[in-house]
Amino acid sequence: MNYRDSLYGGTELEPPVRRPLIVVGIGGHGRVLMDIARVSPSYRLAAVLDDRFAAVELRGGLPYGPISELHNFLADEPEMHVVIGIGDNRTRRAIAERLALPEAAYAVLVHPAACVAEDARLGLGTVVMPGAVIGPGAVIGAHAIVNSGAVVDHDAIVGAFAHVSPNATMAGAAVAEEGAHVGSGAVLIPSVRVGSWSVLGAGGIAVRDVPDGVTAVGVPAKAIR
Ligand SMILES: CC(C)(COP(=O)(O)OP(=O)(O)OC[C@H]1O[C@@H](n2cnc3c(N)ncnc32)[C@H](O)[C@@H]1OP(=O)(O)O)[C@@H](O)C(=O)NCCC(=O)NCCS
Repeated sequence: MNYRDSLYGGTELEPPVRRPLIVVGIGGHGRVLMDIARVSPSYRLAAVLDDRFAAVELRGGLPYGPISELHNFLADEPEMHVVIGIGDNRTRRAIAERLALPEAAYAVLVHPAACVAEDARLGLGTVVMPGAVIGPGAVIGAHAIVNSGAVVDHDAIVGAFAHVSPNATMAGAAVAEEGAHVGSGAVLIPSVRVGSWSVLGAGGIAVRDVPDGVTAVGVPAKAIR
């Protein structure tokens, strides 16, 4: 048995199929997703859409165009998947509503350097950045962002359109409800909940539940609005 066969038990490995991916949004977050697609074993970047483009143009062989072109790209390529590369939670939801795509059209884009437990569940449209860790039993809703180095520990729940920012930590069974924004480096202690569309400011530590629609900052986090 040669070295390669000893690695793979003698079976021929199929080359991974990288499905074509459209990133909607060319701001900072969109460019991060383009970069993840570059190294993704599951997707390859096929087009970038943003209303800052008036018409489809080629850049480095890749089509860039307005969002109104999305349905043409989808009609031409049945395997095409979409991810919304807009960091602001409310704007991302507004774009999802405007696109009105079937959920199955959305990709789940996970950087190969993220660590996702086997039984964690990731909603469609969700993106997971390099260095993120998602523990066993965690549930991530649709169109959520688990940013670089964030930890979503065992049984934690991240709602749809929520964002767990870089280096934030959600301890076991903590909850960030729909649209919640957990700021950079913020911490939710075990089982604490940050409510829908609430913000836990950068570096804040939530030791008690943060109600819906509230901005809380500091250690321990207190509502400022
Ligand atoms: C919490 C947050 C949303 C508040 O933003 P804002 O509404 O513009 O608030 P302001 O900057 O007007 O600050 C209001 C007060 O809260 C304080 N404050 C703001 N953010 C704070 C934070 N993270 N921790 C502690 N205090 C904070 C300000 O010092 C200010 O205090 P003052 O009234 O005594 O001067 C913002 O500061 C924040 O932390 N955002 C998270 C950003 C982030 O992590 N993004 C990740 C992108 S990937």
